[in-house]
Amino acid sequence: MEIKKAVIPVAGMGTRFLPATKSMPKEMLPIIDKPVIHYVVEEAIASGIDDIIFITGRSKRSIEDYFDDSPELENHLKKKGNEKLLKIVQDISSMVDIHYIRQKEARGLGDAILTAKKHINEEPFAVLLGDDIIVNDKPCTKQLIDNFQKYGRSTIAVEEVPLEKTGSYGIIKGQLLNESLYALEDIVEKPAPEDAPSNIGAIGRYVFTPEILDCIKETTAGVGNEIQLTDGIRLLNEEQKVYAYKFTGKRYDTGDKVEYVKAIIDFALCNEEMKDQIKEHITGIKL
Ligand code: UTP
Repeated sequence: MEIKKAVIPVAGMGTRFLPATKSMPKEMLPIIDKPVIHYVVEEAIASGIDDIIFITGRSKRSIEDYFDDSPELENHLKKKGNEKLLKIVQDISSMVDIHYIRQKEARGLGDAILTAKKHINEEPFAVLLGDDIIVNDKPCTKQLIDNFQKYGRSTIAVEEVPLEKTGSYGIIKGQLLNESLYALEDIVEKPAPEDAPSNIGAIGRYVFTPEILDCIKETTAGVGNEIQLTDGIRLLNEEQKVYAYKFTGKRYDTGDKVEYVKAIIDFALCNEEMKDQIKEHITGIKL
């Protein structure tokens, strides 16, 4: 079955980026001249998604404005004869069909995804977290979709994480089926390193059968008093085996300040117009 819908939750509080996120969502932080969320939407489209549901919260208006038409700006660029920028701006608002649903309160990632239930309409769907950028020729979401189509199993993207960081991830216990695929045995939300069943963590990309929504509905608030997606996945795994897929690609968790700075440096070094000046600057830094 084809996967055409994606849920992108962007309703979190972004406390790690305060005070910037007091009036601006962390998903709108720019990696040079493009907000993080733009990269995430591009990945979804490149993976075959044509219907995106953003789960938004307060002070997320700028995301809606970003993907909307901007007649004043377009007129201004037309008058100035700046065709290049005009095209860039117009392309953004015609990228894909986008719907917005509000999560009334930031009650956790599981709760955010559940908000999309009506729109999902019993179809399998993808979830992309709005603050993870993953760089690879074959998009991470497409890798998951292909795996879903091959095995018919809900599939979550995973990668090895440093043991001292298990407390930031959903950590899996799995049975290795081949070099990049696990059958999930368990998943634990944010365990301390000594309690972690492995160092394989779930990152912000998933493909689910619609039954995940009923499973989330059955869960009660877990770690951090939030409705956790991890608890929903655990229930789903009891009913229908979930797979975990070691994706190929370089991931930046831009919700984390160090990772955000690394993303900017790496993207600048890949940018033809900037790379020489940035290299010169970095080489000249006295440490
Ligand atoms: P995070 O835990 O990374 O986001 O959630 P956060 O809570 O905004 O970040 P910090 O820790 O306070 O800095 C992962 C994703 O889930 C969304 C976030 O927007 C992010 O994309 N989310 C989280 C929601 O949409 N709703 C929630 O209630 C919680």
